[in-house]
Amino acid sequence: MPAIHSSLNFYLKPLFLSHSSISFSKFAIPKQVLSPRNLCALASAESAASHNGGRSGALSPPTVTEELQRIDVNPPKGTRDFPPEDMRLRNWLFHNFREVSRLFGFEEVDFPVLESEALFIRKAGEEIRDQLYCFEDRGNRRVALRPELTPSLARLVIQKGKSVPLPLKWFAVGQCWRYERMTRGRRREHYQWNMDIIGVPEVTAEAELISSIITFFKRIGISESDVGFRVSSRKVLQEVLRCYSIPENLFGKVCIIIDKIEKLPLDVIKNDLKSAGISEEAIEELLRVLSIKSLTELEEILGGAGEAVADLKLLFSLVENFGYSDWIQFDASVVRGLAYYTGIVFECFDRDGKLRAICGGGRYDRLLSTFGGDDIPACGFGFGDAVIVELLKEKGLLPELDLQVENIVCALDHNLQGVAATVATILRGKGQSVDLVLESKPLKWVFKRAARINAQRLILVGNTEWQKGMVGVKILSSGEQYEIKLDELE
Ligand code: HAM
Repeated sequence: MPAIHSSLNFYLKPLFLSHSSISFSKFAIPKQVLSPRNLCALASAESAASHNGGRSGALSPPTVTEELQRIDVNPPKGTRDFPPEDMRLRNWLFHNFREVSRLFGFEEVDFPVLESEALFIRKAGEEIRDQLYCFEDRGNRRVALRPELTPSLARLVIQKGKSVPLPLKWFAVGQCWRYERMTRGRRREHYQWNMDIIGVPEVTAEAELISSIITFFKRIGISESDVGFRVSSRKVLQEVLRCYSIPENLFGKVCIIIDKIEKLPLDVIKNDLKSAGISEEAIEELLRVLSIKSLTELEEILGGAGEAVADLKLLFSLVENFGYSDWIQFDASVVRGLAYYTGIVFECFDRDGKLRAICGGGRYDRLLSTFGGDDIPACGFGFGDAVIVELLKEKGLLPELDLQVENIVCALDHNLQGVAATVATILRGKGQSVDLVLESKPLKWVFKRAARINAQRLILVGNTEWQKGMVGVKILSSGEQYEIKLDELE
């Protein structure tokens, strides 16, 4: 290794700081003030809006005052900014969502965040309907920010029609909006990872989906002692209702009422069921069945001949084959709050019971036909980005995700800025990340920055070295330093 030139030595030695020993403080975020320039932009936007032909009476442009206003620097209630450290966490999470989906052979899809409102309006009185962010656009169309991804997926499957061979294994990671009461892990905007299988009627599909979620948990360090799946089938309720000759069209409504069993007093649930037209005798039987926590007991009550017990037994035996029995348990009280589920339903909770559901899903064999498509069997799940982060925090499992740039390149003289740019381009061309120092800065500053971005190498472009076509390199972890010809830089 050639010795580093004395002029670089002069710069480097007294300033050498062990890369790992440097700590840096957080910056305070200055309060933002609307500048006259911003006001101008607003004013011209307003003027553009007033010249749009006046097509819509639905939205009036915001009033702009000429006074300087201090804006609220917080994002709207229930929504989040993603500063770099949060974005790193989000990218890490999404990367794991995508990697697991890839391992299971799923293809990624996406849909618009803004959809037609009609897509989300179902008859059963779901909570999600009341939480819809909906409005009329400038063309007088009723639109909504999607509260979930499943209706959009169903829309796309119908649109593709017979041009796509079944089964489809699709996944998506997208932002959803619900005007929700804020609690820990529940917000007004969240991201959901969805995996759906379209075209498979057997519970092998549900088993595969549960297995993919468990694979994800294992990747991020969550074990069966941290979380557990509660699984049931809506066919259990269907069989009870059938015994009491309760019409099929009440099924969705009954499920929505029963889903609130843990949130509302029992009297309220009973009253709601009664108002829906369910007899007292049937209500008592429903409640008795819902308290069952073992498949054997369920079989004793419903008999072994029905689809509910058969599906559940098959699912549990498949899960055993996957080796995941410790993760799941039967619980008849799980029905889920969305009207479209028709078969197996499942939710995953933290074992300490501190948080809301981490994810949930199930079979929805009739959703496509309710939108006018063919009846195609389908199942899937939604996994939010908020509760899982709370759980990782709770368990001390949040990953350390520091910013990491491989090289920091700095010109020691202003007239060498162009050479430094060439060095950066060469390294970037080789796939290396480079933070190029863009201004003339003292070396002390450069070292501090190198520590902040966790750079591995400092590359200094100095006059004396450059006359020989060389640059100085310092390996920041070891302190090793040398000069190297530009074309030998790897
Ligand atoms: P969901 O149970 O309404 O199901 O939502 C799925 C997951 O999204 C929840 O378990 C939770 O992790 C997350 N989530 C829901 N609402 C919020 C919120 N306000 N704040 C934070 N996270 C939230 C569905 O949405 C179904 N479409 C899932 C599905 C896909 N079923 C079949 N395919």
